[in-house]
Amino acid sequence: MKALVLSGGKGTRLRPITHTSAKQLVPIANKPILFYGLEAIAKARIVKVGIVVGDTHSEIKASVGNGSAWGLKVTYIPQEAPLGLAHAVKISQNFIGRDNFVMFLGDNLLRDGIESFVKDFEEKRPNAQILLAPVSHPEQFGVAELSHGKVKRLEEKPKKPKSNLALVGVYMFDSHIFEAVSKIKPSRRNELEITDAIQYLIDKKYTVTPHVVTGWWKDTGKLEDLLEANRLVLESIKPRNGGTVDSKSKIEGNVIIEKNAKILGSRIRGPVMIGEHSVIKNSYVGPYTSVYHHTTLENCEVEHSIVLENSRIENVRRIESSLIGQNATVIKSSSQPSAYRIMIGDSSRVEVP
Ligand code: G1P
Repeated sequence: MKALVLSGGKGTRLRPITHTSAKQLVPIANKPILFYGLEAIAKARIVKVGIVVGDTHSEIKASVGNGSAWGLKVTYIPQEAPLGLAHAVKISQNFIGRDNFVMFLGDNLLRDGIESFVKDFEEKRPNAQILLAPVSHPEQFGVAELSHGKVKRLEEKPKKPKSNLALVGVYMFDSHIFEAVSKIKPSRRNELEITDAIQYLIDKKYTVTPHVVTGWWKDTGKLEDLLEANRLVLESIKPRNGGTVDSKSKIEGNVIIEKNAKILGSRIRGPVMIGEHSVIKNSYVGPYTSVYHHTTLENCEVEHSIVLENSRIENVRRIESSLIGQNATVIKSSSQPSAYRIMIGDSSRVEVP
């Protein structure tokens, strides 16, 4: 059994963050999303992992390396353009060979990992196994229609979904998928869709079994989903203090303070994570906030947000439901006239009261 992790794509729905970095490397509870997937694969005792990479290949390689940190053996597979998930499978045929494999989308996060999913596949030996989760907006996903526990039809982002069961970005295949990906045609968005490839298997009477997830699942392609994933992961953290907290500060609930972080005259109400070498001074950090490394928060309030590396927030009354990028500065200015002075990246969004 091998694993194929898809870590290309342009991440258009997460611009401007993805102008400068890979969407799979945005930290959730201070750990890149992609690492959760690699951990799940290692836990399912899979060792050989192919990572399909695109424009952001150097960044992905720099953080994952040869995979030995997880006991994995990683091979990088370059995809010349984001031509679809089924295209990624097609170009990985040499790496996969005759093995069965699990395909894992690098921006997907699953609370319960993939162990039981892999076990199910190994026991039942279907040609493909799909993972499904009930969602409130099925039209944003691939959708499965089941009949008597069997997969009847799959549709990619249907206008009128036939069920609320979305295709989770984790799939298991045997070699028949290579026949399917070579037969299907590009979709309306000009991609070779994995959904169409699996539908091809169903039409050819190969066995495709469904497996419904029990724990939560998140596709972190959009800001709201990232914040939600951050909230879900923070909900289960255990408190730890590797930094310093002065006597004027108050820590409530589950808070992780990483190495060399300093909390001065502040109130931190968990669940919260404060990264290495970050300084929180005269501030309030509220529930469901992850502050990454080397960040400064001074005289401000931040809640339900993700703040990335090397950023600075000063003298700002309250920030909520926000994603602050790397090396970003948000400060109150006292210069006249009193106005918003903004320099933001392309495709950014700012909401002001
Ligand atoms: C892809 C698949 C879709 C699936 C989703 C899960 O969508 O095409 O069927 O439901 O991943 O994350 P995309 O994120 O490429 O729009």
